[in-house]
Amino acid sequence: MGYTLAILGCGVMGQAVLSAIYKAPKAETEAVASLYPSKIITCNHDNPSAQQVTDLIATFEKSPNGIEVESTFDQNVRAVQEATVIILGTKPYLAEPVLDGVRDVIDGKLIISLAAGWTIDQLQNYTRKVSRVMTNTPAKYGYGCAVVSHSSEVSAEERKVVDQLIGHVGKCIELPEKNMDAATALVGSGPAFVLLMLESLMESGIKMGIPLKESRECAIKVLEGTAKMVEESGEHPTVLKHQVCTPGGTTIAGLCVMEDRGVKSGIIRGVEEASIVAAKLGKKK
Ligand SMILES: NC(=O)c1ccc[n+]([C@@H]2O[C@H](COP(=O)([O-])OP(=O)(O)OC[C@H]3O[C@@H](n4cnc5c(N)ncnc54)[C@H](OP(=O)(O)O)[C@@H]3O)[C@@H](O)[C@H]2O)c1
Repeated sequence: MGYTLAILGCGVMGQAVLSAIYKAPKAETEAVASLYPSKIITCNHDNPSAQQVTDLIATFEKSPNGIEVESTFDQNVRAVQEATVIILGTKPYLAEPVLDGVRDVIDGKLIISLAAGWTIDQLQNYTRKVSRVMTNTPAKYGYGCAVVSHSSEVSAEERKVVDQLIGHVGKCIELPEKNMDAATALVGSGPAFVLLMLESLMESGIKMGIPLKESRECAIKVLEGTAKMVEESGEHPTVLKHQVCTPGGTTIAGLCVMEDRGVKSGIIRGVEEASIVAAKLGKKK
């Protein structure tokens, strides 16, 4: 039988990860199947948010890997006692009281922390086995991106468990922890920055007379198609950008105005500023 996974704090991100793990396609080999939990216990603070998780589970069909889910509130200690792997999904400012509450039963277990700003070093006050993850809200739809760093005490087999569990929220990329503040800005906050771009493209269509619905569809497809083109061609964005620029044409004219307005440096500086704030989050504790 598989192990038990506890999700301490099952809100937006916790539910995204829960859905992705629960719905993961059936493992093709015994070795892969053993990386999945047989049971997930979700932990929330009060009944209304536990009920939200119960309502979410009720929308699920049977799990392809036979995973059972129990939604609880005020049961953190019991859940951690029963679990081998713990996903920490509380807001960063609540991580300390929540972890203090399970201090006596968490030592020696693997924590997969989603909490922004919480360093491996800080989490190792509770257990030596720590995988720090920064993911984002598209994870809810299986299109997330996750950057992962492990403490040296996380074994090769446990790294496989983390990859398998987190890999279902989207692309999983391992980086050294020194890159985590940058990843928090690029990956965690990234969707908000891309949404600003999407909103701007959409409103440009509206300004020039294209109806809202069609402007929205065009903006979405331009962003989606361009990202796919970069991914599948393997080309540098500059090369692809120049392919769209006819000499003396419309695209280069638009790009020149955007350069005048500092769009590119605005984005770079904005992401950098977000990473500075992310670094401060960790120092507050
Ligand atoms: N949302 C994002 O875009 C995003 C992106 C990247 C990373 N993250 C990281 O993901 C983590 C979770 O963020 P979120 O947006 O998912 O937060 P959230 O929606 O507020 O979820 C946090 C959950 O923790 C629960 N909780 C609070 N106190 C608890 C306690 N004492 N015991 C057990 N559960 C408790 C809350 O339940 P109650 O409602 O009952 O209090 C809530 O369900 C954060 O650390 C954040 O840094 C989020």
